[in-house]
Amino acid sequence: MTAEKGGYDHFMLKEIHEQPKAYRDTMRGRISEDGRSVQLPELKITPEQLKKINRVHIVACGTALHAGLVGKNVIESLVRVPVETDVASEYRYRSPIITPETLVIVVSQSGETADTLAALREAQRCGARVLAITNVVGSSVAREADDVIITLAGPEIAVASTKAYSSQLIAFFLFGTYWAQTVGSQDEENVAYLLAAMQSLPEQVEHILAQAETIKSVAESISHHSSLFFIGRGIDYAIAMEGSLKLKEISYIHSEAYAAGELKHGTLALIEEGTPVIALLTQEDLYEKMISNIKETKARGANVLGIVNEGNEVEVAKSVDRHFAIPRTLPLLTPALSVIPLQLLSYYASLALRHDVDKPRNLAKSVTVE
Ligand code: G6P
Repeated sequence: MTAEKGGYDHFMLKEIHEQPKAYRDTMRGRISEDGRSVQLPELKITPEQLKKINRVHIVACGTALHAGLVGKNVIESLVRVPVETDVASEYRYRSPIITPETLVIVVSQSGETADTLAALREAQRCGARVLAITNVVGSSVAREADDVIITLAGPEIAVASTKAYSSQLIAFFLFGTYWAQTVGSQDEENVAYLLAAMQSLPEQVEHILAQAETIKSVAESISHHSSLFFIGRGIDYAIAMEGSLKLKEISYIHSEAYAAGELKHGTLALIEEGTPVIALLTQEDLYEKMISNIKETKARGANVLGIVNEGNEVEVAKSVDRHFAIPRTLPLLTPALSVIPLQLLSYYASLALRHDVDKPRNLAKSVTVE
């Protein structure tokens, strides 16, 4: 069994460490040799059809939906087409407005989630074209979608998704860039710049993984608490949601993810002396606002861990109790790095509490009932 786990104690830890490879494999062959364009020959949608798309719905469940929240940021920012995200189990029941120019993107690691499959079928029935992002070739979602982008994360065994999720982010980066280059919404230099930054991500993840022990000690201290908060703004909020879900899934510690500016509209009262707060500060245009939100929590006694960009540690250290620095990348790409310490945090918290990390209670890897 240990051999299957490649020497790691758990599949989850192995899969966390496989992310540099998963990123490389998902990008391989999809970025031209000169590093200046994305090629997705697997797509049947023609450039002409893609140019006509004027609305996107991203539909998924759980962790895959959180990848979709990042996908929304990526597509809106690179292509400037409006994107809505939906919980798959809700999508069918809200009469979504679908036109022939709507692209529905379903995201599913397994490709077998019943709610996601039902949403896919409903979208097609209403006349939408469906693009699937999935990790399993030949899965129901892959077979039924009009277009498929396969993430090459390799089999994921641990129930809590790590490398499949982060590879979905890479798929969104690739598709968003491909779409932008197709419609000309980003100039060639921007595309080349984006692709160069994407190709540095695997090495940057390796750099983060080498510091796993730092996160272990934070995780051990938070494992004594019954409630904590994850806060962030912009794309960091999407990562706060994923960090919070991961922690709940395997450590059973209650946590909430909040858009940092929203805390003061009700929830701040739940922050007491010693409440751990994980604050994401990777978006530098929102940095000052984040610092003032952190101060609001500190005034109530919060114990804050800041996830910051390298180079900002000294400044951030003035406002937080502890910090963890991630290597610098483009603001849009930070989720592929900032999620790594949060995955490690939930892994080590679950471990400290002696839970079954790979098989958490009440959760299945793939849910095939609606
Ligand atoms: C289950 C798993 C979650 C997962 C969700 C969606 O609920 O426990 O970890 O995010 O299904 O799975 P999918 O295979 O569609 O990505």
